[in-house]
Amino acid sequence: MSAVQIDGLHKSFGTLEVLKGIDATVESGEVVCVIGPSGSGKSTLLRCVNLLEQPNSGKIVVNGVEITDRDCDIDAARRRVGMVFQQFNLFQHLTVLDNLTIAQRKVLKRDKAEAQRVAIENLEKVGVADKAKSYPAQLSGGQQQRVAIARALSMGPEVMLFDEPTSALDPELVGEVLGVMRRLADEGMTMLVVTHEMQFAREVADKVLFMDGGVVVEQGPPSQVIAAPQQERTKTFLARVLDPISRSE
Ligand SMILES: Nc1ncnc2c1ncn2[C@@H]1O[C@H](COP(=O)(O)OP(=O)(O)OP(=O)(O)O)[C@@H](O)[C@H]1O
Ligand SMILES: [Mg+2]
Repeated sequence: MSAVQIDGLHKSFGTLEVLKGIDATVESGEVVCVIGPSGSGKSTLLRCVNLLEQPNSGKIVVNGVEITDRDCDIDAARRRVGMVFQQFNLFQHLTVLDNLTIAQRKVLKRDKAEAQRVAIENLEKVGVADKAKSYPAQLSGGQQQRVAIARALSMGPEVMLFDEPTSALDPELVGEVLGVMRRLADEGMTMLVVTHEMQFAREVADKVLFMDGGVVVEQGPPSQVIAAPQQERTKTFLARVLDPISRSE
């Protein structure tokens, strides 16, 4: 049984068809990186897997439970899938610790002591436990993103989704966030990651999906999709992201 199985996923916004029949699987413990040009539907795909968007048709099954089933409890389904956003999305008026405990208490009904214990454990894991009493604005971008990862982990997700987690960061802060993600991958976390970090994809991904125009154009191990792409569209995209000079043109 796959951790995430996506079959024939379609999503439109009005007349704009953004996902045109996506088939993809993430096996348990696998890291799958999604790459592709702006507007190709990468975020929409992730948002469907977390039910932040309701697909128009198709099926998403998470560890055997069809979350796109009409009768599926959306809140329960969402709890099983953690998500980390480009812009961190931390509550600015809450301390780091409270950012991590609020959903545990409200959604998982954990008592304060238990929620705090889990929170501290996850803050330690991402290396920012010393910031527990700080507010997000007092942290660097890299620290804020690590807090956001710890917050998602505190809910005990079966799968973690990352939507360009490092693209809002100053270049010197990217490494610390990728390092945390790499450790999570090593620990066996199942991860679906939208990223432009080709080196990360190359080294950490078990599988890479190249999306363009709402379809998966090519997928396979990074040694295939990144190092030896078969499709012209993949080659063109990679040439642009791997060569900074042509990127600025
Ligand atoms: N809520 C929405 N309402 C209308 N159109 C939307 C909505 N969300 C996304 N779109 C459109 O869907 C298309 C795909 O968007 P999406 O954000 O999934 O692309 P992306 O691959 O993540 O791009 P980027 O690399 O820039 O983040 C775009 O044309 C976008 O304008
Ligand atoms: Mg996006």
